[in-house]
Amino acid sequence: MQRRKHVVGNWKMNGDLAANDALLSACLGLPRSEVAVDLCVPFPYLAQAAARLAGSAISLGAQDVSEFECGAYTGEVAGSMLKEFGCRHAIVGHSERRTWFGDTDDRVAAKAARSIAAGLIPIVCVGETLLEREQGRAEEVVARQLDAVLERIGAAGMAGSMLAYEPVWAIGTGRTASPEEAQAMHAMIRAHVREHDARVAAELVVLYGGSVKSSNAASLFACDDIDGGLIGGASLMADDFLRIVDAAARAGIEAKAEAFASAGG
Ligand code: 13P
Repeated sequence: MQRRKHVVGNWKMNGDLAANDALLSACLGLPRSEVAVDLCVPFPYLAQAAARLAGSAISLGAQDVSEFECGAYTGEVAGSMLKEFGCRHAIVGHSERRTWFGDTDDRVAAKAARSIAAGLIPIVCVGETLLEREQGRAEEVVARQLDAVLERIGAAGMAGSMLAYEPVWAIGTGRTASPEEAQAMHAMIRAHVREHDARVAAELVVLYGGSVKSSNAASLFACDDIDGGLIGGASLMADDFLRIVDAAARAGIEAKAEAFASAGG
């Protein structure tokens, strides 16, 4: 199954009007390619980014979404609001939200469901901590996080979603999962979804996130089950981000050539 490569920038809580403007200008200079590029910016800058990205091939995303519909929920941002500002994606269940803001498996599932209801594509993040990996529980933890979402949205909902495997120990630490470690977890994730629906599993975009840089992107993106990256720190540095997108474009071309050759082309 030939899936398109995706590169998603997660700016986290960074930026100001002037810096965003420069970064958006640089991203707009990206050559057209098969890679789907998305920028997830802080809520207050959605309007700025939407205006700059209008008419371009780069799509816009949010970093979180409320589990509720509009109403008396001070401080929350509804999916319908994100949609109105041109968002295509919403990250849900990022480990920073799970760690610092009380996002439980259940709440993440509710946010994924609410995103889909609002017409957004949730990018559902899963990933184990270092302790969980050292205890040999990495797969069990990721499967649990995935099951909570699958139970809520089913295979049909998963068909309209994206996943991101982000090992917590690799986020912002400079320590990346090796391509082998990442590929093994991505394969497990896809196999887990396959138990519900083989076609949805085959088409599912599963991103890797955690210290992706221009120096390691190519080896990660070359893995069969890694469909691109969710990029934190490096998405704030235009040169690095552009090189990561280029690595995804090259990996996509190589995968296509391989598929063509193995089909006897
Ligand atoms: P870093 O790329 O800074 O490690 O962050 C990864 C991440 O959390 C993306 O969502």
